[in-house]
Amino acid sequence: MKIVHYPDPVLLKSTNQVTVFDEKLKYTVNKMFKIMQQEKGIGLAANQVGIDKSIFIIKIPFIEQELIRVFVNPKLFLSGDMISIQEGCLSFPNVKVEVPRSSICNVFYQDVDGSMREETFSGLPSIVCQHEMDHLEGKTFIDKLPSLTQQQICDKLTLDEQKR
Ligand code: CO
Repeated sequence: MKIVHYPDPVLLKSTNQVTVFDEKLKYTVNKMFKIMQQEKGIGLAANQVGIDKSIFIIKIPFIEQELIRVFVNPKLFLSGDMISIQEGCLSFPNVKVEVPRSSICNVFYQDVDGSMREETFSGLPSIVCQHEMDHLEGKTFIDKLPSLTQQQICDKLTLDEQKR
C-alpha cells in the first residue's frame, strides 16, 4: 500500500460503498493510519492508497487531545459560513491550494464495525472531512481552479515524479 499521486485514475472516479465489515477492513484502516502518519497527513481517503472504497480517516492534533476518526460510507451535510485555509494533499506533493469550504459539516457514517453514527464538526475538522469526501467522490482540491492552473500543477507533479 502506498500513496498514489494525481492524476492516477483511482483518484478520478467515485468509490464503492463498503458492504462487508470484517477483519480485512480493520487491517486496511490500520495500514491507512500507518501511511498517513509516515507522510504526516491529517486526513486520508482510501482511494489515495489505491483502494476503491468509501472510507476516509482523520487524525488531527489539537492541544488537549487528537481527533481520530474512521468514516465508512460517509455522507456530508454542509452549513455555516464559507471559510478557507491553505490545504495540502498527500496525492499532490508540495502543492497548496485555498478552497472555499463550509464551516460546519454534519457527517452520517458507519464505524469499522458497521454501526451508524452521526457527528458535527466545525473549523479544521470540517475542512478536512470535506477535502476527504471530495476524494471519495473522485474529486480533488484543484477541481475548482482555472483549467490552466490545473494543467500547470499537473505538469509540475509529472516533472517532480520524473526527477525521483
Ligand atoms: Co487529499
